[in-house]
Amino acid sequence: MNLDARLADSGCGHLFGALQSQPADALLGLIALHRQDPRPTKIDLGVGVYRNDDGETPVMAAVKAAERRLAENQSTKAYLGAEGDARFVDLLALIVLGSALASDEAVSGVQTPGGTGALRLGAELVARGKGNIAVWIGTPTWPNHAPIFREAGLEVRRHPFFDPATGGVDFPAMMASLDEAEAGDVVLLHGCCHNPTGAEFSAEQWAAINSLLADKRLIPFIDLAYQGLGRGLERDAAATRAVVAAAPEAIVAYSCDKNFGLYRDRVGALWVKAASGKAAATVRQNTLVLARCLWSMPPDHGAAAVREILEDELLRASWRRELEEMRSRIASLRTALARSEPRLAPLADQGGMFAMLPLQQNAAQALRANRGIYLADSGRINIAGLRAETVAQFVAAIAPYLER
Ligand code: LMR
Repeated sequence: MNLDARLADSGCGHLFGALQSQPADALLGLIALHRQDPRPTKIDLGVGVYRNDDGETPVMAAVKAAERRLAENQSTKAYLGAEGDARFVDLLALIVLGSALASDEAVSGVQTPGGTGALRLGAELVARGKGNIAVWIGTPTWPNHAPIFREAGLEVRRHPFFDPATGGVDFPAMMASLDEAEAGDVVLLHGCCHNPTGAEFSAEQWAAINSLLADKRLIPFIDLAYQGLGRGLERDAAATRAVVAAAPEAIVAYSCDKNFGLYRDRVGALWVKAASGKAAATVRQNTLVLARCLWSMPPDHGAAAVREILEDELLRASWRRELEEMRSRIASLRTALARSEPRLAPLADQGGMFAMLPLQQNAAQALRANRGIYLADSGRINIAGLRAETVAQFVAAIAPYLER
């Protein structure tokens, strides 16, 4: 019997019989596990969602106000097109890329369903444009990065990134590894607030990365998903702007999920810098064809709310204020953790919502089962899941599992 006949015979069917079973997404799985846990003292440090002091993720005040305006004033829900809300993209470009790049005719942007949509669309564009190149990603990185690039048919190569001994970037190892990259390869860089480690490049290291990209003719692909939650809106965008300005070609995948609190509304954007204004027009045409095949058009509501906020001085000020409160809450929890235990001291030099704790193997499972503390198996914590009052409880719980 041939394979098809055997599959049909086994009850697995012709079409899907060759599929392998897949593990559930580990990060998303933590949401359900935490929800099912009846213990009142449980702590959720799993998926990357901002939480306030009450452990809630409220809709931001500016978003609520923008949504009210939309409900009042939106006169149609007719299709916008594969590029989404062009005004949203243009206004957002000023926040992300700054005015010089936003008005560069070589740079063009489209709205995407979240940062993941932007990553996938950028990956598809790379595959369609050059195809036969490698995408270099750090170890560790967001667990979805490698699958996204592989699903687009690209080869993924890894370079070292994090040094658990120092809690910082292992920069010499990273640069040595990237020395093997070939001209035209893509290098994925977290613009700020590295997920999962919180480790940041210094300004000098960003400059050295820029030199390496230029010397070896590598293409930067920046994932910027936490702007405003690290050092502040402007500072978190500085590296992205410098890299895109210096590179002849570059890609930026952006998410509004965290800094506008629009997680489930899926709001993001993709910007591509092409070699010239003429090349940018062709890149844009191809980007739109790909988007049309992936999702046809991005969902409108969240992007329309962001546009309302960015168009209105008062709403914009309210959003920036609330974002800054979120940022400073995370920063003070970070400081509290770093001060409470010498082995957590490196957290003080990191940025953003995440830190990767130096935990022994299986610590995450034990903390979950015995203490109701939910964190990724990698040892990543979402710092925003803590409260000033739970820091001591948390540090006492993890202390026995911390590597010496
Ligand atoms: C995370 O890393 O927790 C977030 O980016 C959520 C996700 O989609 O994984």
